[in-house]
Amino acid sequence: MPSIEPPRATAPTATPTSTSTPESTLETDYLVIGSGLAGLTFALSASEHGRVLIVTKRAPSDSNTNWAQGGVAGVLDPADTPEKHIADTLRVGDGLCHRDIVEGCVREASGQILRFADDIGVPFDRDDSGRFELGREGGHTARRIVHVKDTTGAAIQTALLNRVAEHPDRIQMLPDHMAIDLLTTAKYGGPNAVFGAYVLDQHTGLVRTIVARAVVLATGGAGKVYLYTTNPDVATGDGIAMAYRVGARVGNMEFFQFHPTCLYHPLAKSFLISEALRGEGGILRLRDGTAFMPRYSDMKDLAPRDIVARAIDAEMKRTGDDHVVLDMTHLRPDFLVERFPMIHQRCLELGIDMRKTPIPVVPAAHYSCGGVVVDDRGRTNVPNLYAVGEVSMTGLHGACRLASNSLLEAMVFGARAADDVRTARVERPANVMPWYAGEATSSDEAVVVSQNWDEIRRLMWNYVGIVRTNRRLARAKHRIDLIRNEIRDYYWNVLVTGDLIELRNIALVADLIIESAIRRRESRGLHYTLDYPEKDPLQQHDTILARGDGPVA
Ligand code: SIN
Repeated sequence: MPSIEPPRATAPTATPTSTSTPESTLETDYLVIGSGLAGLTFALSASEHGRVLIVTKRAPSDSNTNWAQGGVAGVLDPADTPEKHIADTLRVGDGLCHRDIVEGCVREASGQILRFADDIGVPFDRDDSGRFELGREGGHTARRIVHVKDTTGAAIQTALLNRVAEHPDRIQMLPDHMAIDLLTTAKYGGPNAVFGAYVLDQHTGLVRTIVARAVVLATGGAGKVYLYTTNPDVATGDGIAMAYRVGARVGNMEFFQFHPTCLYHPLAKSFLISEALRGEGGILRLRDGTAFMPRYSDMKDLAPRDIVARAIDAEMKRTGDDHVVLDMTHLRPDFLVERFPMIHQRCLELGIDMRKTPIPVVPAAHYSCGGVVVDDRGRTNVPNLYAVGEVSMTGLHGACRLASNSLLEAMVFGARAADDVRTARVERPANVMPWYAGEATSSDEAVVVSQNWDEIRRLMWNYVGIVRTNRRLARAKHRIDLIRNEIRDYYWNVLVTGDLIELRNIALVADLIIESAIRRRESRGLHYTLDYPEKDPLQQHDTILARGDGPVA
């Protein structure tokens, strides 16, 4: 019988407790971890054939979805065609998209958008005759982005949460509950299958054992692995780390997308300046007013993100400036206020009137194109474990994601997984071990968490950022090995907190990104290295990592 993992411990924020009690065990059909677009889409559909329990580590609306500004890509204009959307996705994905997945998502897009508009109640912007107003973003050769002004994600999130709240009998939500690890039958001597998770109630410090027929990872992205990011604080790669620890395959982690335009301001943390601004005619300029994108691409300011972010990085290094600017001042002032009310308001609060002054911007980590490898139904290689949304790698994005394809992917795969999961069956152990704290004690050295957290994010930014080299990656690997050893040691001996769980996860995700980047000895899509500046046709394949196969433990 394989060894059972040693006990873990929790550090309660309120009442101290060190072991699970029978009352802390919950049972459901489907356990969803995460409450963004993908998880809620799954929950709504799956609740038609089973009980759903959603755990989410902060408030239900704390998700990457809620921060999405741009919109959802889909062919809705008679002058556009699915073939063009497919071609754009494949071109930007730079040889690594899975064509069948791209074709499926693109062809399902218009149906999903209509479903979200009509059934879920998302108030996408329409013109006077009721047709969707379509925006444009980088890499797209047509206007095809449906949106709700510049707060599309928040509108989708609100509509979904409203629908979920209509079914309290079938969908239960546990906010402030953070998944620690997945439960697998392999720990009990059986073949590897998932049957639930240990989840920390961050109010009481109690660890619940949640048993389910299937677990759906919908934990979103991992932008917090980098020092500068457009992502909210919750984006710590939890699902990728949990899945990897139980033997799920993780793919293409080297392809981390940097959004070209994050607001550059000392008081603004992670504030995105949507690509839709360039879609409406915004021009990137140096601080002296020179427009530089024509030197980098025929598509100028609407080139794919990898090209624009690298161009900005190169110009900042060349000029020594700490930012560039996005100029909107040539556009009609009333149009800017009407189309981008939230961005306009936030910029005004910070003393920037985009109608009169160019907006200072820098690139920042935005989206993980890699993730837990899934098939066309959202299934991982571990039975009863699904992954949907940014946490997953479906093959849609390849080496670089086309703008606004991610919300589309979350809609499509949330629905597909909900359809597939009805067949999930699990032979779970008769007696599930409750969480046991062992000898762990409360930490008197919280500084270990903050020190390692800062160090990981800084080393990832400096060594594993927009432009990479062998030496920088080797340095990063050396550092992350030391940090992970220190975290392991600490983790086993103290009562865990939400912060410690996130640190453990982000450190593993950083390691997976570094290892994947080391393995790719070419430049392709979002992975650019000075040591191998060209694309190598022999490396036109995914980078797949699985625990036990390589150097990431
Ligand atoms: C944006 O509004 O620029 C973000 C859209 C996306 O990441 O797809």
